[in-house]
Amino acid sequence: MAEKRTPIIEVRNLTAGYQDNIVLDDISFDVFAGEVFVILGGSGCGKSTLLKHMIGLYEPMAGEITIDGINIVSANSKQKRQLLQKFGVTYQSGALFGSMTVRENLRLVLQEFTTLPLNIIDTVCDMKLKLVGLEGCGELMPAELSGGMVKRVAIARAMTLDPDIIFLDEPSAGLDPITSAQLDESIIDLSRSLNITFVIVTHELASIFAVADRVIMLDKNTKKIIAHGSPAELKQSNDNAFVQQFFHRKPSLEQ
Ligand SMILES: Nc1ncnc2c1ncn2[C@@H]1O[C@H](COP(=O)(O)OP(=O)(O)OP(=O)(O)O)[C@@H](O)[C@H]1O
Ligand SMILES: [Mg+2]
Repeated sequence: MAEKRTPIIEVRNLTAGYQDNIVLDDISFDVFAGEVFVILGGSGCGKSTLLKHMIGLYEPMAGEITIDGINIVSANSKQKRQLLQKFGVTYQSGALFGSMTVRENLRLVLQEFTTLPLNIIDTVCDMKLKLVGLEGCGELMPAELSGGMVKRVAIARAMTLDPDIIFLDEPSAGLDPITSAQLDESIIDLSRSLNITFVIVTHELASIFAVADRVIMLDKNTKKIIAHGSPAELKQSNDNAFVQQFFHRKPSLEQ
């Protein structure tokens, strides 16, 4: 994996939280271009908080986050907008607009960020739907979709601007194992064929082994990264009880 060693995201000494609640305390890591990078950790340890800081939605209490050479913490609004065009994001709670068709949901992003004519926009939307295996679904309303289809539309929407980096917050939560495996395949395909960098929050052990090049595990008590490495390295490492519980599916002990 020597060709993947250029950092596209650098997180340095990040301290983040809400008012007087520190959630992440002085954490640092790199994400390399083209890799699938997974963020793990128990509920409430700050995975979504980290993701939201990485896309510049929240300001850190301390530390720096550099994406493609631009410091997102000190970026002005024009630079942030430029950076945002390089990202695709799906939020944990992210839903589609229920009163709009699937295609109209995708159109919104292109209408916001480009001046393309509508027929071109719709061609792009349909191409993105095809990429996630939803060819011909553009006219459907969100209520007509299964949970797995909604997730895939959200990923298609995240891809409308041909992003370099896609951030996914628990994309397979609530999906059956087969649908979840299909989603994993889409991620692997996109990563390999388009060299998109993925930053994914997930709890699905099977997904982690299927897609992740590298993993970090966050810890709620220490507010630090307690483990990092490939999934195989984490499974074999013995030095942290929580990591071992997670990777060997042992019943959770109170941390
Ligand atoms: N907007 C917010 N305002 C105040 N506190 C918040 C906010 N969002 C999250 N928190 C708090 O920050 C901590 C981390 O939350 P976060 O959502 O980042 O965890 P998570 O690891 O994504 O959890 P889960 O696995 O349940 O999604 C929690 O204590 C939560 O209550
Ligand atoms: Mg979360």
